[in-house]
Amino acid sequence: MYGEAVLKNKERFLNPVDILSTGELEKSMERALLRLEKDAHQFGDKMVQSTEGIIATNERGHSFNRYIATDKVTWKTGIWTGLYHLAYLYSGDDTFLKVAKSHLKHYIEASKHPELHNDHDTGFKFTPSCVAAYKITGDEEAREAALRAAKILLDHCCPVNKFVIRIGTSEIKQRDHYRILVDSMMNIALLFWAYEETKDEAYREAAIGHYSATARYLIRQDGSSYHHYQFNPETLEPMYGVTHQGHRDESCWSRGHSWLIYGYPVAYRYTRDEEIKNIHKSVSYYFMDNLPKDALPYWDFDFTDGSYEPRDSSASAISLCGLYEMCKFLPDDSEDKLLYQNAADMMLKSLLEICENKNSQTDCLLGYVTNSRPHCQVIENCEPFGDYFFFEALVRKLKPDFELFW
Ligand code: GLY
Repeated sequence: MYGEAVLKNKERFLNPVDILSTGELEKSMERALLRLEKDAHQFGDKMVQSTEGIIATNERGHSFNRYIATDKVTWKTGIWTGLYHLAYLYSGDDTFLKVAKSHLKHYIEASKHPELHNDHDTGFKFTPSCVAAYKITGDEEAREAALRAAKILLDHCCPVNKFVIRIGTSEIKQRDHYRILVDSMMNIALLFWAYEETKDEAYREAAIGHYSATARYLIRQDGSSYHHYQFNPETLEPMYGVTHQGHRDESCWSRGHSWLIYGYPVAYRYTRDEEIKNIHKSVSYYFMDNLPKDALPYWDFDFTDGSYEPRDSSASAISLCGLYEMCKFLPDDSEDKLLYQNAADMMLKSLLEICENKNSQTDCLLGYVTNSRPHCQVIENCEPFGDYFFFEALVRKLKPDFELFW
């Protein structure tokens, strides 16, 4: 359970960061849009997947900053389709909307197969794709698909413990599967949206139950987080924290933590529950206090300056978007607004200086993403979610009033 938040390195975040000029941000945006155009040409109506492993190669010979085409819906493709929606919202260029639209058939079909979504990531698959399509174009088929998906996610919520189960529906309580995990905080946006569309209280209750259980079991007193929390599948009692993608059970996996930093402001937007600001402060201060000198997080907070372990740029891309998002709900004279703004700018500057991929012959926008270090999956390479949140950060700087679809 989170405790009172204390920012030990407050001085580091008191002064505004000399962020790149609007002209330079615009140049990064221009590069990003050109890359997305090139990728659209290359991948057609397919989505993309990353190349797994450090030495994996793809059909074009090497894997570095390259993607492979896929039509299989995954949590990563959902975010890739969302990237094209966001590119359209930013630029107004129909080319990007057409690409996103060409992906929708895959999601519409996948939404008819609950057995394909036996996990906690259904929100990642359907919010940036189908919910976004419906919000942008009023596409009824996309709305129906997103509602089917929301029902699937709802069926993965435990009615007793009120959380989204890691794997399996609310009826199947296999031991390793009957866990709550940090990733789901970003998925519950689908439940909040489904409540707004249907007025069925079950969706809202499940989403609120999930974020309350997350604060209770996954967030520690010092604001760090467990990746998973194991419950007893027979008695349904809480047992202990465990990791899957982190360094060890008691450490804090940086990207997992970033889903909390972005997930809570999204929950606040839907509920206006003031306690969320305290939960969010506790996880944000932990992240800020543990940032290395160059503001580019390692894949787990067990590692810091001087370590040779890989970085995970997606953790800062996601977190900085979450910090900017929370700033929308804080009064202008609040100290947290200043601290979050400066911390987010600092992380964005670091991404622009160290991680932006400027090689127009490759496929991604952001390098240095680590998917899962313990499984040797994508180490300091590229992933659709790195690209998406980096792009969203640029949009937030250049068009701060854009409408979120999370
Ligand atoms: N499933 C979300 C993540 O790996 O970050």
